[in-house]
Amino acid sequence: MKEGKEKSMGITYFEKERIFKLDTKNTSYLIGITDEENFIGHIYYGKKLEDHNLAYLLRTEESPYVPSVNARDRVSFLDSFPMEYPGHGTGDYREAAFRVKTQAGHTACSLSYVSHEIFAGKKEIPGLPASFAKTGKDGKPEGCFTLELLCTDSVLNLTAVLSYSVFEDTDVIARHVSILNNSENTIWLTKVSSMCMDMDNREFEAITLHGSWARERHIQRQKIGIGMQGVTSGRGESGHQDHPFIALVTPNTTQDTGEVYGVQLVYSGNYEFRADVNQYDSVRLQAGINPVDFCWKLEAGAHFDAPEALLTYSASGLSGMTAHYHDFIRQHIIRSPYKDKKRPILINNWEATYFDFNTEKLLAIAKEAAGLGIEMLVLDDGWFGARSSDNCALGDWVVNEEKLPGGLSGLAEEINRLGMKFGLWFEPEMVSPDSDLYRKHPDWAIAVPGRTPGRARNQYVLDFSRSEVVDGVWEMMERVLSSANIEYVKWDMNRPLSDLGSAALPPDRQGELSHRYMLGVYSLQERLVSRFPNILLENCSGGGARYDAGMLYYSPQIWCSDDTDAIERLAIQEGTALIYPLSTIGAHVSDCPNHAVGRVTPFETRGYVALAGTFGYELDVTRIPEEDRKQIPAQTAMYHKYNDLVREGDYFRLASASENQMYDSWQVVSKDGTESLVTFIQVKGRTGQRSRRIFLRGLHPDKKYRIEGEDGVFGGDTLMYAGLQVAGLWGDFQGKLIHLVQV
Ligand code: GLA
Repeated sequence: MKEGKEKSMGITYFEKERIFKLDTKNTSYLIGITDEENFIGHIYYGKKLEDHNLAYLLRTEESPYVPSVNARDRVSFLDSFPMEYPGHGTGDYREAAFRVKTQAGHTACSLSYVSHEIFAGKKEIPGLPASFAKTGKDGKPEGCFTLELLCTDSVLNLTAVLSYSVFEDTDVIARHVSILNNSENTIWLTKVSSMCMDMDNREFEAITLHGSWARERHIQRQKIGIGMQGVTSGRGESGHQDHPFIALVTPNTTQDTGEVYGVQLVYSGNYEFRADVNQYDSVRLQAGINPVDFCWKLEAGAHFDAPEALLTYSASGLSGMTAHYHDFIRQHIIRSPYKDKKRPILINNWEATYFDFNTEKLLAIAKEAAGLGIEMLVLDDGWFGARSSDNCALGDWVVNEEKLPGGLSGLAEEINRLGMKFGLWFEPEMVSPDSDLYRKHPDWAIAVPGRTPGRARNQYVLDFSRSEVVDGVWEMMERVLSSANIEYVKWDMNRPLSDLGSAALPPDRQGELSHRYMLGVYSLQERLVSRFPNILLENCSGGGARYDAGMLYYSPQIWCSDDTDAIERLAIQEGTALIYPLSTIGAHVSDCPNHAVGRVTPFETRGYVALAGTFGYELDVTRIPEEDRKQIPAQTAMYHKYNDLVREGDYFRLASASENQMYDSWQVVSKDGTESLVTFIQVKGRTGQRSRRIFLRGLHPDKKYRIEGEDGVFGGDTLMYAGLQVAGLWGDFQGKLIHLVQV
């Protein structure tokens, strides 16, 4: 340590000032320790600063009450001091980041700084998905540094480690909290947030994602006011309705301008994101496990790990946040060997046949599909046990040989012979009351004794907090997956949790069920990807009810929505792409009238919208109109031509039909700026309409570009500042792809 300064690339400790400065390429995050009590204060998060001497921002000498000069009166001080990780019940009346209950029934808790450690790379979080650092040629971590602040509540003998991992290349800071009980007594944690940040409220607006089944992740934006606002899930999954994400933005933030603070969790279970504005016009932003129904027994010596939170800041509007999260998820969350690869173009039989299929029918689809450039057949729900409707047999993961004589191996062989791969659907976490599994192990279902659990889609949820349940399901899955050449798995979850009760947990641990359930799900996904590393895993939950960074740690893609209508998908995919890369978005071309909304759209447009995702088909290719089928070879060729660009490029939102009701447009630009693909969808035709002008992004202003299929070249500056004109579309739901290449 030189000059009272400890520096480790992205993290510096200024010893004299007791300030930690975390720097990414474009952002700084500053934490200060108070002299007297060793409180850990939040100083600043925002655009990168050179200076570190910003402790004045903690306002430690200011009196909150006029004309009082009682600057350090403990309660009023605590109620206004910007804490990094506030406790409860000792004078800060704002929402606590963590809460406890002692054996004596007390709830007060408060943390003070003890020591810290700064190191290269970051640690794994046991049992939970989490971001990871890149590894250099020498096997050492690269571009990532972690600060661990060790804090304690000396009365409770509780230690908290607040860790901050700085990813220099992507302007993301990953926060994690671990709490350890050093005392002799059991203590109960009744809330553990993953992050907390106190900031002045700058008339922030909150951007959140909402919807319903088949209408996921529509963007909502509203001004925040005094009191509490936020999003939660108590469904045991991230949910169709809300989403584990919030962004606070300054007023008038656009795609290119304004300041954005984004937070998302690497977690798939119950969450709470809240922004509380208080009497001093500051906002406390928090994210973590939903405290409702949560109560974790921490015995002497035990510790609890909260899920990781991903923070980002953009001074250049929403597109900055989007770019940070896209790059971060692609580089530091997704582990799958498929993440940088083209995924096989699949055809899924769900909307083609629902439960009504047999080998002959599947092979007929596969035969036709193979000739059109489709590369994999995915057999969806209904291949196992007595499953002939959604009424029965979940949990009986044994092939139904009546429908599929010769089993899956025979079918997979036939499909492989056609030059196609074979994939399979599972719903491992569920059990039908009418199933052999439930008849054998009724106590394996989540239920409250004496209360018949509520059914959803005629099914119950298995108690994945129990290792014997997870093991039992795994045995069946492993047998099936080893029995045939299965190269893809769709892992579904078609109902939320309810009637929370575990037959195995003692009364004082029932409040652990939802989180333990998630740990069980993660452990099974981990087993699947470790035992079958070459299987391409796609997560799914009644469409997109479990679309989150936690799931992306296991699967490089997630089925985005059960709504496959190209026009409905515009808003769904726009909201999804706000924080998740296009390479993760499960998107298929389906038949018309669309099964969810009855809309008829051109086959071509359906292809353009699915191209902004993983791309595949969800239809009976033997029965669609000939003029549609004829388009498939060109569509599959289009996928091969553009997928590298779509998967790896930078994404920009150019126009939103949710906002303008008329047209939608997005753009992908290669990382080197030499190639770009613009998609334009005219949602509604209108009279008196000249060409539409759209302003491109991400090109080199001083370079020239050619538009494929058109004469002439355009300056990058012209296309971005004066605009590109889109003409020649007549009618509703028409689409156009515009491919630009630098000359
Ligand atoms: C969910 C999925 C669908 C399909 C069905 C099968 O709804 O989202 O794609 O797999 O389950 O039951």
